[in-house]
Amino acid sequence: MKIEVFDDQKILHRRAALVIAAELTTKSAPVLGLATGGTPVATYQELIRLHREEGLSFAHVRSFNLDEYVGISYEHPESYHAFMKRQLFDSVDIPDDAWQVPDPNNSEMLARPSLYDELIEAAGGIDLQLLGLGNNGHVAFNEPADSFSEWTTRVALTESTILANSRFFDSPDEVPREALSMGIASIMRARKILLLACGESKAKAVKAMVQGEISAQCPASVLRLHRDVTILLDRDAAMLLEA
Ligand code: PGA
Repeated sequence: MKIEVFDDQKILHRRAALVIAAELTTKSAPVLGLATGGTPVATYQELIRLHREEGLSFAHVRSFNLDEYVGISYEHPESYHAFMKRQLFDSVDIPDDAWQVPDPNNSEMLARPSLYDELIEAAGGIDLQLLGLGNNGHVAFNEPADSFSEWTTRVALTESTILANSRFFDSPDEVPREALSMGIASIMRARKILLLACGESKAKAVKAMVQGEISAQCPASVLRLHRDVTILLDRDAAMLLEA
């Protein structure tokens, strides 16, 4: 794991955007794995700036998102489909049919979620997977558990994730209880992984991910077994790490 710690979040997001931009400019058909949540928003803003001001093009990109809630439609503003349109895809030149999220409205995918992994494989596999980190150590909706999930699957959200995500809804009751989520094997197959974590609320999970036991109780800890992972942290997220 390469770990970089930043005093200034703006520089962290600029660095993240440049790692993504490097995939776009060096590959003829890059496949991205993208994430939702509060953390990547500033990275997406920087990518939009690079598109508008420096000619970064998404015209040749394929993108697969990590997860999507079950039980709300794509039109719901907090669906991850709507999030990605609003935060990135409506503002860059990616073709509409070149990006997708796991689709709970597709009955075939809901019945057999690993169909999503087959679509990723058919596209050539993910070159760069962007990840956030849950306060509880989750990546995508792979929550702390007794064993690692493998491929894309239908998952129940834990109480701590429902609470963390309730800030995007009017109340915790409105947060969907289930999601389709890429599994740990789906994520580990990416050729390169970039994880971003900011703020004190992530410090315990960062410590467990980097210096704790590799365990399904901290799903992100498994990333230590991947050969090309870069972690970008702000000072607060890094505060519990021992040198
Ligand atoms: P956040 O969520 O970026 O909104 O903190 C990250 C996550 O839960 O994976």
